[in-house]
Amino acid sequence: MTDKQNSSCRITPVKKLLLSVPLRVKILGLAMGLILTLSLVTIFLVRQELNRSINAALREEATLVAGELSHQARDLLLINDIFALNSLLKNMQNNRPDIRYIFVHDSRQHVLAHTFGSLFPIELLLRQQPFPGDEPGPITRQIATSEGLIWDSHAEIFPGGNIYIRVGVKGDNLRRQLSTLTGALVNTTAIVAAIGIALSLFLSWLIAKPVTQLLAATREIRRGNYDFSLPREADDEIGKLIEGFGDMARSLAQAEKIRQEKEKLQKEFLQRLMAGQEGERKHIARELHDQTGQALASCMVELKLLEQAAGSEALQQGIARLKKSITSELESLHALAMDLRPSVLDDLGLIPALEMYISRFQKRHRIKIKLRLLGPLEERIDACVETCIYRIIQESLTNMSKYAEASEAALFLERKQETIRGGIEDNGIGFDPEAIDPTKSMGLYGMRERIELLGGKFSISSDREIGTMISFELPIKPEVCHEKN
Ligand SMILES: Nc1ncnc2c1ncn2[C@@H]1O[C@H](COP(=O)(O)OP(=O)(O)OP(=O)(O)O)[C@@H](O)[C@H]1O
Ligand SMILES: [Mg+2]
Repeated sequence: MTDKQNSSCRITPVKKLLLSVPLRVKILGLAMGLILTLSLVTIFLVRQELNRSINAALREEATLVAGELSHQARDLLLINDIFALNSLLKNMQNNRPDIRYIFVHDSRQHVLAHTFGSLFPIELLLRQQPFPGDEPGPITRQIATSEGLIWDSHAEIFPGGNIYIRVGVKGDNLRRQLSTLTGALVNTTAIVAAIGIALSLFLSWLIAKPVTQLLAATREIRRGNYDFSLPREADDEIGKLIEGFGDMARSLAQAEKIRQEKEKLQKEFLQRLMAGQEGERKHIARELHDQTGQALASCMVELKLLEQAAGSEALQQGIARLKKSITSELESLHALAMDLRPSVLDDLGLIPALEMYISRFQKRHRIKIKLRLLGPLEERIDACVETCIYRIIQESLTNMSKYAEASEAALFLERKQETIRGGIEDNGIGFDPEAIDPTKSMGLYGMRERIELLGGKFSISSDREIGTMISFELPIKPEVCHEKN
């Protein structure tokens, strides 16, 4: 693998998670993320700006009131009307709800008038002291009190000092309005977010729907089904993709149809070839048995008569030798006819033919074969199935005798409803089925072909320690059969 390929294979867990999330969730997540970020940033900025404006307004109000009252209070102090001074301060507080307190004091911290009722909070006097160099006009600062932050404005009533007025503005009212506004903003954001979710749901559905349809179509193609409809609703890139995919599916369907037709023709051809081969074998075996065999048998009868009539011993010995060689020829002829195609397979069926073959095989190769038959096997089945099973067992046992070095083998056949199963097992040296070259070894390949042509299943398992097991399963009535019983 190249470095480039390696780096593309290195996917972080987060990226892996993101890539595994469905498209719909991705679009929805993106839209939600954007809406929420935008809303939170907007609320934060609006609140910050409003807070700044409120603070500026409160500061201005405190400064303004302190300046205005310092003038009005001066006149009242000149005539020493403390009662009127108190009324002035109270009226001002009543008219402006943001004002928390107003009081007038002298340089010895003696409070002359205030708006606190009976108890004056002494610590307020310590909070904001005039200091040298301050301008005579109101000085406004924010101070921390037990009630929270207050804009406190401090002004001289008489130029040069001695008597001062202080005004505290808290702005609870404005802050309440800010909270109400924030609440309204949050509500609006929630509504906008809900509309955004609905829109992004619709959008994600719109985008993901054709993609999901494409995905379903690929699954159908994988299953070998090309008969599906992919409606092209949009004219965008996805619409073009769907159109391209549809064209591709149609070409694939066409190619698949041609392939299936070719395969069908090949199967048909092979079946006819095999049936023809079996017919030919049958014919030759019958010819050998009926013509050549009969001719040799009548030679034997003639020889027997000659033997009886012959006078000289030399003639009798010659005739005996001839009889011996004709007997041996007759046996080989019989064996050849049997190997080609035993007539018992056509006349009596699979099981008698197999029993005869196994008995001859055991005698010829001195290998013990256990035969186990299950189910109603005595009933005749389609000729092509009988031939197929016979040939598979014949090839398996021939292979075993040639390569397995086995001391014994077992063969079983079972008929169950509409199928027939079988297996040939030996205790030989085994082999590696994967390593077999079908261009060189036709036996195993031919077995599989014969079985698959009839719609059956075939398997080989072989182990150097245990031996070889060949199994098959065939339908009793295959779809096509070119042989006749
Ligand atoms: N029962 C078995 N035990 C051990 N080896 C086997 C057995 N059956 C098959 N083989 C191995 O599998 C190979 C392929 O067998 P196959 O029947 O396909 O071809 P073949 O017998 O070599 O030739 P052909 O059957 O075409 O005349 C054999 O050459 C042999 O090595
Ligand atoms: Mg073989």
